[in-house]
Amino acid sequence: LRVVLMENGDSNEGYDPSLPVEKWCGDDRLYQWKGFWFRPQYLLGTRQVLDKFKPLPSDVILASFPKTGTTWLKSLLYSIINRSSGACLRSNHPHMLVPTLEVQLYGPQQQSFSNFASTSSSSRILATHLPHQILADAVRPADCRVVYVTRNPKDTLTSFWQFVLKSRSYEEPWPLEMAVEKFCNGVVPFGPYYDHVLGFWKESLERPEKVFFITYEELKDDTKTQVKRLAEFLGCPFNGDGEEEVLDEIVISCSFEKLSSHEVNKSSEHSPWMRLPMSSFFRKGEVGDHRNYLNNEMVERIDAITVEKFHESGLMY
Ligand code: A3P
Repeated sequence: LRVVLMENGDSNEGYDPSLPVEKWCGDDRLYQWKGFWFRPQYLLGTRQVLDKFKPLPSDVILASFPKTGTTWLKSLLYSIINRSSGACLRSNHPHMLVPTLEVQLYGPQQQSFSNFASTSSSSRILATHLPHQILADAVRPADCRVVYVTRNPKDTLTSFWQFVLKSRSYEEPWPLEMAVEKFCNGVVPFGPYYDHVLGFWKESLERPEKVFFITYEELKDDTKTQVKRLAEFLGCPFNGDGEEEVLDEIVISCSFEKLSSHEVNKSSEHSPWMRLPMSSFFRKGEVGDHRNYLNNEMVERIDAITVEKFHESGLMY
């Protein structure tokens, strides 16, 4: 192991200097491990997850590629499982309700699960950006439930680019052309995006009772129906007395409009786990925003890759 302290104080402990490396954005480098690209500070966390994380059969794991709706799903899963009507969401950022394994629990800060908002359920809800190809060995033995959310690649890329521009200060701007180039080549944290999505897609086809695959667009289109499906998958359906009202409340309290209006989510204060403003997880929350940024050439290039990668899988985007 090599430990290097970078200028911003992040440690890139845990990376092996012999790993393939690529420039990503500004001075940031990504390291390739087991076919996926990582920021160095999360490589150690990733290895610790694989070494130390002991999932329980009752755990619910939320898996996602970054910028595909993780924050939304964190608030929804927490609310569904705890039948919470929103009081908790008013005072806790969704990332403080559901921790991310390789970032918050086993990442540079090493926070314990008990630091996060308590739940009334015996199920722990844990999130991860790790791909199925890496996570499977750690999670499969516990046979716990996994919810995977994904989003169309053009909006994911646009959201990622905006997130990086707004939340980090680089000396030079990060041109969109560069972000597209890296994304198309798979060089993006936790990428390639396509391999990430396909890993969980295939697993959801093989083990539908344990892996729930949902898209950001489906959720946007009919949140209530999808939340009902999610609750059924989680084994806590909304079918008791008064449950329809609770379901309606959950849909509203987890909506972009509601969540982004809470002081805790509007705050420019940095999150304790990622040196990012708490507000950076809420931007527009819309489908199709890539049309405002990507030119025709970029759209055609990404669409062609999407067809090529997803074609045989039956996954449509
Ligand atoms: P945009 O940048 O397109 O607005 P993640 O949580 O995986 O980092 O994804 C962030 C994206 O989800 C951002 O997309 C953000 O605005 C959007 N988002 C956050 N909370 C949301 C919510 N409650 N409903 C819908 N979208 C939400």
